[in-house]
Amino acid sequence: MSESAAPENLPEEVSKGKNFRTIDRSLIKQVAAEEFRSEYSLKVNVERARSKLHQICNAYRGNTRNYAELRKLIPAQIGEDRQEELRMVGESLMRYHVSTRERLPFIAAFYQEIFRRLPPIHSVLDLACGMNPAAIGWMLLAEPFRYEAHDVYSDLTDLLNEFFRVFSINGAAHQSNLLSSFPSSQVDLTLLLKTIPCLEQIKPSAGAEILEKITSPFAVVSYPIYSLSGKQKGMREQYENRFNALISTKQWEVERLLFDNEMVFLLKHR
Ligand SMILES: C[S@@+](CC[C@H](N)C(=O)[O-])C[C@H]1O[C@@H](n2cnc3c(N)ncnc32)[C@H](O)[C@@H]1O
Repeated sequence: MSESAAPENLPEEVSKGKNFRTIDRSLIKQVAAEEFRSEYSLKVNVERARSKLHQICNAYRGNTRNYAELRKLIPAQIGEDRQEELRMVGESLMRYHVSTRERLPFIAAFYQEIFRRLPPIHSVLDLACGMNPAAIGWMLLAEPFRYEAHDVYSDLTDLLNEFFRVFSINGAAHQSNLLSSFPSSQVDLTLLLKTIPCLEQIKPSAGAEILEKITSPFAVVSYPIYSLSGKQKGMREQYENRFNALISTKQWEVERLLFDNEMVFLLKHR
């Protein structure tokens, strides 16, 4: 093995790629280590790591090169109808994340169905959030509330922080890797939307481990029921069985809700 193909050089090389620069370094390191094969050249190992990162992160960015460019969608100041503007800007941002965009056709029903089953929610932890915090205008949150969001992309979390600032939302978005750290904030509601299958591609026990770490009284965990290519592949049954194997019904009361392309589990701590 030549020195340049050594595993310690991999993360640096992987993160040089155009769409990999803003990904959390600890995730790049983890994926690079996982994908490294000593019999392959550095080039092949870099491709292997990037391909995995594409599946779990970059594929959801669609064609968005840099989320900083989307700041132009957020006005410098907001007008008189704040709620209307919050939804308008939120919708335009949500179009730039594939997973969040898929929820747009039923976004109002989605959050109505969830929040009408919950007591007043004053704090939210949105894990592997994508562009979902931009849906705050549809969430029936109780004032005053705080919103904490996490994802691996720094350009995405910067954009979300700008969104929070302009709309005077008590929110904070952080770049983090759920596979190596879990936020310690105490909140009323945790959201983990459509992310367990991504994380389990890197670490098969990730879903179970993350569910165990949730301490909030309520949580919403969801799964996609269509693949990114739009083809149904028996995903619902497969994911439902998988989720049932992960969740402790001694700890959580579970209610399942079905939407067009998303299966939701609403969890209440017993
Ligand atoms: C399927 S999308 C779901 C996005 C959002 N939760 C939603 O449903 O609209 C998966 C998200 O997980 C993020 N992600 C992938 N691996 C992650 C990790 N290890 N830690 C935190 N976020 C991660 C990706 O960047 C992407 O935004």
